[in-house]
Amino acid sequence: MTTVQDQASTLLAQLAGYAGHRTIAIGIRQGLIAALAEIPSGLTTEKLAERLGMDPYYVATWCQAAYAAKVCDRYADTYWLEPYMATLLLDTTSPAYVGGVFTVMEQDEMFGRFERVLRTGERLWWDGCRPEFIDGVAGTGTPFYTRLIPGGLDQIPGLAERLAAGCRVLETACGSGRGLVRLARAYPECRLTGVDGDAHSIESAAALLDAQGVRAELITSSLETMEPGDGYTMVLNNISMHECRDIDEVARRSLAALEPGGWMVISDFPFPAADEGLREVPGRIMSGIQFFEAQIGDQLLPREAYDELLERHGFTELGWFRITPMHAVTYGRKP
Ligand SMILES: C[S@@+](CC[C@H](N)C(=O)[O-])C[C@H]1O[C@@H](n2cnc3c(N)ncnc32)[C@H](O)[C@@H]1O
Repeated sequence: MTTVQDQASTLLAQLAGYAGHRTIAIGIRQGLIAALAEIPSGLTTEKLAERLGMDPYYVATWCQAAYAAKVCDRYADTYWLEPYMATLLLDTTSPAYVGGVFTVMEQDEMFGRFERVLRTGERLWWDGCRPEFIDGVAGTGTPFYTRLIPGGLDQIPGLAERLAAGCRVLETACGSGRGLVRLARAYPECRLTGVDGDAHSIESAAALLDAQGVRAELITSSLETMEPGDGYTMVLNNISMHECRDIDEVARRSLAALEPGGWMVISDFPFPAADEGLREVPGRIMSGIQFFEAQIGDQLLPREAYDELLERHGFTELGWFRITPMHAVTYGRKP
């Protein structure tokens, strides 16, 4: 029988998670975690405060909370990061990087605005999001690309050889261009095109490509009306397919852009298809992401929805694989 204590434990665990989340986000933003990462043997709270020019009493408060959240270990007044925390929270080049999610979750577009417009249901789109939020989302998309290119794409039979030999690649919803840079580095023989509906994201992509010396054609267009030409060997979409207003029209246009035998690759969050999954940790995090998705008028989709989509549009040799509990790839080929 469920007791009041059981139910209280369910609620208190949420408070504990919230306290840990805020501690980690403060630690990332204010450089506390980076400073600890520099000295693996640890720092006293005094020394940490001195290095960062912060109040020692407050720093000690943060350190204790970071210990409680299992981010740090300690002996007396000396604190150091637990194993892999520096990689997970700070290393933007690691496939395991999750630090960006903490800071994005705290931005107004996630929960603050949602609460304000709960009554009116007023929607938002990317052109109404602040540049800091768009940058933050690009930071959370980066490990998806790191896992996908080239490791994930290598798992798709026949694709890696074509990419290595050189072919045309279309990235739909390329956002701020980090995926295009990664594609260019992994497959220098390929010709790249990126399409995105948000002008600010395309401007950021152009600046990034320029700074990185990467050549790619950029098109500002909604995916539902895009006309990127044809002859592409791969059409790739990273964490954006669920955002399409008309996913069937986007599938049709992607199919038309592909050469016969070309691959459509959808890399996305696999939203739980069944209720049990919603109460697991990945499902709970994805339920949080749905607050933003709802505001832009969509929801994350179960991965199976992409099987159905590709099947509906006549793609063949369908396949999929899970890279992490929050990242799955679904693909198919144009007949
Ligand atoms: C979550 S961001 C991901 C961007 C990038 N793929 C990444 O992983 O960093 C979603 C992107 O999809 C774009 N987008 C969403 N729906 C779109 C549509 N229907 N047409 C064109 N772009 C769209 C947005 O402008 C935004 O840049």
